[in-house]
Amino acid sequence: MSLFITFEGPDGSGKSTMANLIYEELLKRNVSVIKTREPGGTRIGEKIRDLILDNDLSEMNMRTEALLYAASRAQHVEEKIKPNLEKGVTVLCERFVLSSLAYQGFARGQKIEEIQAINDFATDFFEPDIVFVFKTDKITLGRKDKGSYDRLELESTDFHKKVTKFYNSLEKKDNYFFIDASRSIEEVFKDCMSVLESEGGLS
Ligand code: TMP
Repeated sequence: MSLFITFEGPDGSGKSTMANLIYEELLKRNVSVIKTREPGGTRIGEKIRDLILDNDLSEMNMRTEALLYAASRAQHVEEKIKPNLEKGVTVLCERFVLSSLAYQGFARGQKIEEIQAINDFATDFFEPDIVFVFKTDKITLGRKDKGSYDRLELESTDFHKKVTKFYNSLEKKDNYFFIDASRSIEEVFKDCMSVLESEGGLS
């Protein structure tokens, strides 16, 4: 069964590591799978990514930022995510709509309903089957090398605390699976794999 699976959480919470490990594991089990990311994932999306994350563009207005993330997402859903799922390919995606609610909505102080509305337009209400929400108490940005910070990562500690708070306070929904990301990679991987097994993602 092909599933649309997204990985959500603060910067440095281990999403990429886990998406890579799961991708390799699914390949080993002969599951048809691709791995992609947001912003980006398509030619147009990657150009938008360069624009949004450019350190030099510090004057970017927060509405512009929200619309650019949504624009990248719209292209991604139509050009890559839906066609792959239709072909029976499972799609692993680092970040999706929840990231915009966390960063452009809660952390930037814009109305969550408005950010949700532009994303509903961008995705035409398309939703993941599984959303892994990586929760952690620590500010995890410290795991990365500061010299490589992008425009969003350069935001204040307070901004990143808000992002973490948003993810930590999410209420359960049917497709949300909360993962305690403060544990070892092996433990987190085991948790994610058992969710995939119970949701039919391994066949
Ligand atoms: P990445 O480091 O996970 O590739 O994401 C790039 C940055 O973009 C990261 O700091 C989170 C941020 N981001 C948003 O602010 N809103 C979004 O909708 C997405 C997808 C990412």
